[in-house]
Amino acid sequence: MNTTTISEKFKELYGGQGTMYTSPGRINLIGEHTDYNGGFVLPGAIDKAMYCEIKPNGTNEVHAYALDLKEASTFGLGENDIPREQWAKYIYGVCREMIKRGADVKGFDCVFAGDVPLGAGMSSSAALESCFGFALNDQFNLGFDRFELAKIGQATEHNYVGVMCGIMDQFASCFGKEGSLIRLDCRSLEYEYVPFSPEGYRLVLINTMVAHELASSAYNKRRLSCEAVAAAMRKRHPEVELLRDATMDMLHEVANEVSAEDYIRAEFVIEEIQRLLDACEALSKGDYETVGKKMYETHIGLSRKYEVSCPELDYLNDMARQCGVTGSRVMGGGFGGCTINLVKNELYDEFLEKATTGYEKEFGIKPKVYDVVIKDGARKL
Ligand code: GLA
Repeated sequence: MNTTTISEKFKELYGGQGTMYTSPGRINLIGEHTDYNGGFVLPGAIDKAMYCEIKPNGTNEVHAYALDLKEASTFGLGENDIPREQWAKYIYGVCREMIKRGADVKGFDCVFAGDVPLGAGMSSSAALESCFGFALNDQFNLGFDRFELAKIGQATEHNYVGVMCGIMDQFASCFGKEGSLIRLDCRSLEYEYVPFSPEGYRLVLINTMVAHELASSAYNKRRLSCEAVAAAMRKRHPEVELLRDATMDMLHEVANEVSAEDYIRAEFVIEEIQRLLDACEALSKGDYETVGKKMYETHIGLSRKYEVSCPELDYLNDMARQCGVTGSRVMGGGFGGCTINLVKNELYDEFLEKATTGYEKEFGIKPKVYDVVIKDGARKL
């Protein structure tokens, strides 16, 4: 993205110049809804990001301008100063979470913009949190490491946005590395970079352009289902802290103690944690056909068991299967957004042509296509 317009607006609004920071959105190859269950994920930061120019202003007030929305917000840094604008809550939340951790955050002026599509499952909100987290940490010399910055972003979602998300998105945005996916253990936060440039294949996202209005409450409900099942198992198996610790046998044991809905959600999660491990094993052997098969299995699970898909996503997934695409599935939280597709080079053009024209005919919406480019995480520009 060209950041000149951000700098011009900064100069116009506040005079002078600030410092520019950026933090990216993410993809996730496999391992969905496993993060808040203490499982594994396999995300990577992408070439779509949030950018902010920022400068301390010597007061206790924040002046923020969202260039894409052409909207300004001014707010203080106290616990009762929560701004009205939804987008400003992310910036305010990051400040508050830092202050709660003892940091001396002061007022600042800022302008931000980005090219991470909103509601597309590419984590625009985590990109925004990480961008401001990284920027404030640097500007006020706060000394938080990247682990803490990721947790600050996640706590912002929990406490100021109301989404009880896991750590995957913020972690990917903070720790991304060009050309590599991150195999992250969401419980211990141990991670490993997995170089990813599958020869003969391309990774492409297709955006349905639909976003479910109740996505965040439906998301929180999924999390509660998982916690309820883990709690039921804990009565017999005190070592079960999260579904990460669960086995299918343990699930069968509690079948009569949990609701049918909670049961099937937990079944998906236990399977998905294993699927990720299998996919990683296949990846290490360069066996992309198996990785692709696992992606399809994830889609079926997310659609039928976890119920976070929608007709538009299922349509794109069916198209991929019909065209012989190696792997395809809904990516991210679900309820709209993108499918991620692992496509052989020779099938790429034909698949995209068929999927996009077919989709437009079926739903009357033009889907957007993004080639995945895996890039670095949060940084100063
Ligand atoms: C959203 C959340 C993540 C994760 C995914 C599903 O992106 O923010 O923490 O739970 O959904 O894998």
